[in-house]
Amino acid sequence: MTTPLRLGIAGLGTVGVGIVRIVQKHAALLELRAGRAVEIVAVSARSKTKDRGVDLSGYAWEDDPVTLAKRADIDVFIEVMGGHEGPAKDAAEAAIANGKDVVSANKALLAIHGQALAEAAEAAGHLIRFEAAVAGGIPVVKALTEGLAGNEITRVMGVMNGSCNYILTRMEDAGLSYEAVFDEANALGYLEADPELDVGGIDAAHKLALLASIAFGTQVDFDAVELEGIGSVTIDDIHQAADMGYKIKLLGVAQMTGRGLEQRMSPCLVPDTSPLGQLAGGTNMIVLEGDAVSQIVLRGPGAGEGPTASAIMGDVMDIARGLRISTFGQPAKTLRKARAARAAVSAPYYLRMQLIDKPGALAKVAHALGEAGISIDRMRQYDHTDTTAPVLIVTHKTTRTALDEALADFKSTGVVTGDPVAIRIEAV
Ligand code: NAP
Ligand code: HSE
Repeated sequence: MTTPLRLGIAGLGTVGVGIVRIVQKHAALLELRAGRAVEIVAVSARSKTKDRGVDLSGYAWEDDPVTLAKRADIDVFIEVMGGHEGPAKDAAEAAIANGKDVVSANKALLAIHGQALAEAAEAAGHLIRFEAAVAGGIPVVKALTEGLAGNEITRVMGVMNGSCNYILTRMEDAGLSYEAVFDEANALGYLEADPELDVGGIDAAHKLALLASIAFGTQVDFDAVELEGIGSVTIDDIHQAADMGYKIKLLGVAQMTGRGLEQRMSPCLVPDTSPLGQLAGGTNMIVLEGDAVSQIVLRGPGAGEGPTASAIMGDVMDIARGLRISTFGQPAKTLRKARAARAAVSAPYYLRMQLIDKPGALAKVAHALGEAGISIDRMRQYDHTDTTAPVLIVTHKTTRTALDEALADFKSTGVVTGDPVAIRIEAV
């Protein structure tokens, strides 16, 4: 008789409870599909007495996740506590040192310590799997490591944070300010305990860094992601973009360029008719481009109990079936350190600024752009007041370096008040 695959789960919050539910509900199905039973042996969380709405009576309890990770009677350690230091890291390391495979939903842990953890696991003949860490229920890690394994990946992009997409689409639909929708989303419990992880783009950047590593065979490098959150996007920008046929999305883009690996997570304008432009609410979308496949689009729930536990169980089932794929799709030791290229690929930009209403003001701005080698595609002045005029400019393709030069020059013109807004227009 084949031996069961024995699981230890550290963390019994949203995701942990979701895993328990699936294992309990689908025990027979999992056994049929894997050819062996999949059983939970032991669990850990902070509170032993909290009612979690699931029956945990059949499982051993550990107060300390590190002790759980070391138990001789588990084969797979599932880390769904969160946090990139402390118990999550200690327990993952202990599991590897004690001969377990590790499955985690923790993008922060993987984006910061993924290389070291993967090297340690692989040296010990074990695995770390993290499908649930990127885009929740969308099997994008599988798509990259398995389905697209025959491609040279040329670009990975997508909307990887459901909370930000909810905020941006709600602003647009209801005509509300960023601040109003932020408060609403927070009250509804849509944002992380530290909302900056969502709206600052950090959560999404962790995910992008993980995908970039698999796609380009490079060591995961979260610090190299150019990061800008959605806090400066105004309802005015959303309306202006809509007028020109665009939507604003917090878009992650990773591509290998002649100058190195470009990884960006920032608000971008995308055509409103594109799949990314049409993505509404808390849903995620990942676009993968490869030399053989051309382009594929994956869309689905990026968070929540069921979708995230579904992704964890996909990894568990691979292990149960004996599928052994390296953490980042190739042995961790063979991953290169990539040179970071800052917005190497040129693009048109949307610029919005407030000009003092006096003769020659627009000419000074146009001159600053011209001096930086930037050509204007479209320009519009609107909602004029007694003293100032908002001006919107769409440039032809330019580099971020040239744009930064022009933006710095705007300050010395004496006609631009406040900070101009610059949003990249992405070809999707
Ligand atoms: P959560 O609801 O806050 O649950 C965290 C769990 O970890 C709780 O059960 C907590 O115990 C336990 N825990 C925390 N510190 C612990 C410690 N020192 N020792 C033992 N247990 C500890 O979090 P979650 O939403 O399930 O998320 C878990 C992980 O999945 C995170 O890395 C998150 O980023 C990732 N993830 C979540 C989602 C999602 O939709 N929620 C989606 C994708 C990825 P108590 O319950 O006793 O406090
Ligand atoms: N806060 C994340 C989101 C949850 O909104 O997408 C999953 O990482």
